[in-house]
Amino acid sequence: MTTTGGAERDPILRVVPKPGDINANGHIFGGWVLSQMDIAAGIVAAREADGPVATVAIEAMEFIAPILLQDLISVYAHVERIGRTSIAIRVRVVASRDRGSREVDVTSGLFTFVALDENHRPRPVKRDATPSA
Ligand SMILES: CC(C)(COP(=O)(O)OP(=O)(O)OC[C@H]1O[C@@H](n2cnc3c(N)ncnc32)[C@H](O)[C@@H]1OP(=O)(O)O)[C@@H](O)C(=O)NCCC(=O)NCCS
Repeated sequence: MTTTGGAERDPILRVVPKPGDINANGHIFGGWVLSQMDIAAGIVAAREADGPVATVAIEAMEFIAPILLQDLISVYAHVERIGRTSIAIRVRVVASRDRGSREVDVTSGLFTFVALDENHRPRPVKRDATPSA
């Protein structure tokens, strides 16, 4: 298994939650955040696997601080580990608040994907010298 440092330059996704994504506390639903993270991580994993991937595990999820309605959410993701057929992607979500004057770390997690063949079974990942961020 290869472990990578994985620089995070630009967010993979930037998105603004909608009023329907709010729970009774006035915070954004955890499930909404999770799905944005899965989408962003899937983009990075599919790029690395050079083909289709499926999420096999989500670990180390931390909801550090609430996301509020007017936050702009940036989802950063980088390859942390490459196995034989699996790729682990570290995901971090930052909320930009008060018209960009404040950046708050809100959520992080480790998403593991498996590269799939045409029968939806695990396929070996081709190794690149430099994993993409
Ligand atoms: C992904 C899937 C094809 C893997 O099939 P499988 O029979 O479990 O495959 P394997 O046991 O050979 O494991 C494949 C790789 O995944 C890794 N893996 C399996 N379960 C894991 C887990 N819980 N956590 C981390 N890695 C895991 C294995 O270590 C292996 O990695 P490696 O080849 O790099 O060593 C199958 O589990 C599946 O179809 N799951 C549903 C996927 C899906 O629908 N995702 C969307 C959820 S809504």
